[in-house]
Amino acid sequence: MKISDEQLTLFKLYKNAKPLEKIKIYARIIFNFQPIKKHLDPYIPNSGTVLDYGCGYGIFANYVKMKNEKLKVIGFDISKTRIDEARKTSDKTGVEFVDKLDDFKFDDLKLVLLIDVLIFLKYEEKIELLKKIYSALTTDGIVFIKDTLKSDSFRFKYTYFEERLKLKLKVYGDGLAPELNYITPNEFVEILTKTGFKIVNLIPENQFIYPGIFIIARK
Ligand SMILES: C[S@@+](CC[C@H](N)C(=O)[O-])C[C@H]1O[C@@H](n2cnc3c(N)ncnc32)[C@H](O)[C@@H]1O
Repeated sequence: MKISDEQLTLFKLYKNAKPLEKIKIYARIIFNFQPIKKHLDPYIPNSGTVLDYGCGYGIFANYVKMKNEKLKVIGFDISKTRIDEARKTSDKTGVEFVDKLDDFKFDDLKLVLLIDVLIFLKYEEKIELLKKIYSALTTDGIVFIKDTLKSDSFRFKYTYFEERLKLKLKVYGDGLAPELNYITPNEFVEILTKTGFKIVNLIPENQFIYPGIFIIARK
């Protein structure tokens, strides 16, 4: 597996992370960064504000800022541990990381990232969040979703088992709802179109053994 210059830059950014967190951060950069970056690149805007919702350690928020320094980038996550690690990188990147987003007072977002976070939200919570995102986006703004692809496949059953185990072992951090809420591509399309979004692209893709789906929608 070839490590790109972008991955090397990200490694350097997190060199001061606590050892246990660093293992998770580096694993994410090694195994998940390239396949997500490939689909994300075409949607990084030229200007404006980007919100990475459920940003974790802020890898993709930092990446977006690396690609276009002119952007204002905000990363939000409910895990204080992850946001604390993300904040250690802010000096170098200028990305703002927050662990609270009570009022969701945005009306100028060009791009919102929801990368592997929606499975932690219940069906109704997904709808509520996507409605808020819709009104916070500028006209033609984009929501970029990456999630687990729910199906009858063996891959999905295995992923479900592994993700449940990780949730129990707190690999995703503390304070998360104790369940995983997968939805099918059709359900995603239904929620998004009912909210007013237009589907731009829907790409099922397996990463190693993990079935994934990328859904890109425009306001
Ligand atoms: C699998 S990680 C993905 C992190 C990041 N998006 C990435 O791709 O590296 C899922 C993240 O979602 C966060 N999360 C879970 N439920 C959340 C919620 N209701 N609001 C915000 N973040 C949440 C977790 O704390 C965790 O950092």
